[in-house]
Amino acid sequence: MSITLKTPEEIAKMRVTGRLAGEVLDYITPFVKPGVTTGELDRLCHDYMVNVQGCIPAPLNYAPSGYKPYPKSICTSVNHQVCHGVPGDKQLKNGDIVNLDITTIKQGYHGDTSRMFIVGNASIQANRLCELAFECLWMGIDQVRPGAHLGDIGHAIQHYAERAGCSVVREFCGHGIGRKFHEEPQVVHYGQAGTGIELKTNMIFTIEPMINAGKAAIRELADGWTIVTKDHSLSAQWEHTILVTDTGYEVLTQSAGSRSRPSSIKSSP
Ligand code: MF3
Ligand code: CO
Ligand code: CO
Repeated sequence: MSITLKTPEEIAKMRVTGRLAGEVLDYITPFVKPGVTTGELDRLCHDYMVNVQGCIPAPLNYAPSGYKPYPKSICTSVNHQVCHGVPGDKQLKNGDIVNLDITTIKQGYHGDTSRMFIVGNASIQANRLCELAFECLWMGIDQVRPGAHLGDIGHAIQHYAERAGCSVVREFCGHGIGRKFHEEPQVVHYGQAGTGIELKTNMIFTIEPMINAGKAAIRELADGWTIVTKDHSLSAQWEHTILVTDTGYEVLTQSAGSRSRPSSIKSSP
């Protein structure tokens, strides 16, 4: 399978599912408090997607080759968990940072987005890492326009993260998205400007950099899904689903509660 360019009809559906995914994060925000379990957050999001939005939660029973079916409806990655954290009985406590990753399916199309949440008050370092990861996402988004290369995205992100003394996870990446959850191309969050495939109008893919406060190395827990930093340093991630337009990009997973592009990053030429 090669990279698909979406039709106007598909783009319309991707706008709908993308906004719905963002709205799940808006909905869950007031519940992310000390004492709530990640399992409770999963249940609330599941019920909202299914009963209010009429969506299918894409993670539930998702089973790429080599993986056992994912057992929950969202991913909850706490502190040194990098991604794919499986919700459970663990209570969030003051000072935790947690990524909630939502993927909706509506009319057969996927919308994929994640944000960091600070539970109560966290350390300056934890706050700073969450901000840095958000800025990294937007450094990547800023590169998106027809004629740019995938490597421009990875380079911008890697440069920004490493300049701040943090590191970029290599094993997981952004991805094309549409009828399928994970499509071509792979959007890695490191690399050289000007390399990789050229972006074309009507491509849709995610950008979702995982930024570690310590070293980049990761390992998988025995549950077969949860990824953690090898050195137990904190990790942060934000994700949007992006459409390449004639003039640049459109963020498909923006919703009323999502933060806009940070003014702290300089815009691309
Ligand atoms: N939402 C994740 C991504 O951004 C993928 C999660 S796969 C799951 O690509 F099975 F863990 F849900
Ligand atoms: Co994704
Ligand atoms: Co995701």
